[in-house]
Amino acid sequence: MLRRLSATRPKICSLICALHPAYLHEQWTLSNAWLERQKDGDKDVGWRYDLRMTIHVLEKGLAHKHPKSIFGLRHIARAVELTARLERIADECKESVGDKGLRIWAHEVLSEYFRVIGRNEEVKTVRCAFEKLKPVNNGGIARTPYFRKISSANESDYEAFMKLAQKRVSTRWFLPKTVPREMIDKAIAVAALSPSGCCQQAFEFRIFDDSTLIKQLQTGINGFTGFSESVTCLAVVIGDFRSAMGRVLTHHDIYIDASLATMSFQYGLEAQGLGSCCLHWPLSAEKDALFAKIIGIKSYERPIMCLAIGFPDPEGKVAFSQKKCVEELRAYNKVN
Ligand SMILES: Cc1cc2nc3c(=O)[nH]c(=O)nc-3n(C[C@H](O)[C@H](O)[C@H](O)COP(=O)(O)O)c2cc1C
Repeated sequence: MLRRLSATRPKICSLICALHPAYLHEQWTLSNAWLERQKDGDKDVGWRYDLRMTIHVLEKGLAHKHPKSIFGLRHIARAVELTARLERIADECKESVGDKGLRIWAHEVLSEYFRVIGRNEEVKTVRCAFEKLKPVNNGGIARTPYFRKISSANESDYEAFMKLAQKRVSTRWFLPKTVPREMIDKAIAVAALSPSGCCQQAFEFRIFDDSTLIKQLQTGINGFTGFSESVTCLAVVIGDFRSAMGRVLTHHDIYIDASLATMSFQYGLEAQGLGSCCLHWPLSAEKDALFAKIIGIKSYERPIMCLAIGFPDPEGKVAFSQKKCVEELRAYNKVN
């Protein structure tokens, strides 16, 4: 009897979880994203995620040490179609900076793909479509797979990085000084280099340096009560579920990608003398609705966390926050 109960326990647990309002809210957000993905206008973002994903699959195939003679058949037609679409948008002078980078990358990867791919009827048809596209100017930056730089292991690099990591600490008291936007942008340039699932980077750092908006947003952030008065800059990290194609299986990527980028962002801030503190954001329909009301987050977006940012106040203390030791955090070849 006990054995039978413990066997059904995971099923009961997942049923209860699935029916929990918070999870239902997440599923609801995901289903809104799926609906939104069906939109296919030039301004819609869904097909751009598709293009990023397909081009990334192809570049991985090209980077393979022993590439197959035929690969990527599932993706090339769509990749060429979408690259052509970006070319048309550029021709109509409607191209954004982001679209330009995506178009050049896509074009160069496809060009390399058709250079190396073996003979195949399907490839032949798509190649014809690709050859109708105009050549691109890559501005001197080749965007096809390359051999990475092998730097000689440098102890001082490690020490410098360790020093930065030790210096970074959750900072909750700030000087009443405006944070220059250039400093934020420089930190985001570091964050942009973070890894992301299928290179989709389905998140955005929304930066608020308007005191009225900051005050409104802070009403929703429980974990900062008592500290919030000195904040002059607040970031809300927002994930875009449209990248998940409505699929539950990849929906956690927005949380992982945004969190990886946030860590780099914090190091980028710290390296310029700015302090920051992550602020918890719960999985809650009411909380998301509050941000929807204040800053208009969409029904397919989820706030992932917030960050207080500013010049650290030397007269404000920081918590010691004892970290776990290396032995507690790592296990080699552990098999339970
Ligand atoms: C996802 C996340 C949520 C957090 N939420 C809060 C918060 O709401 N309020 C707060 O004061 N600190 C918050 N923190 C900061 C943590 O308390 C802090 O990172 C942790 O104690 C380690 O300390 P350190 O950042 O100084 O190394 C959060 C950190 C993370 C990563």
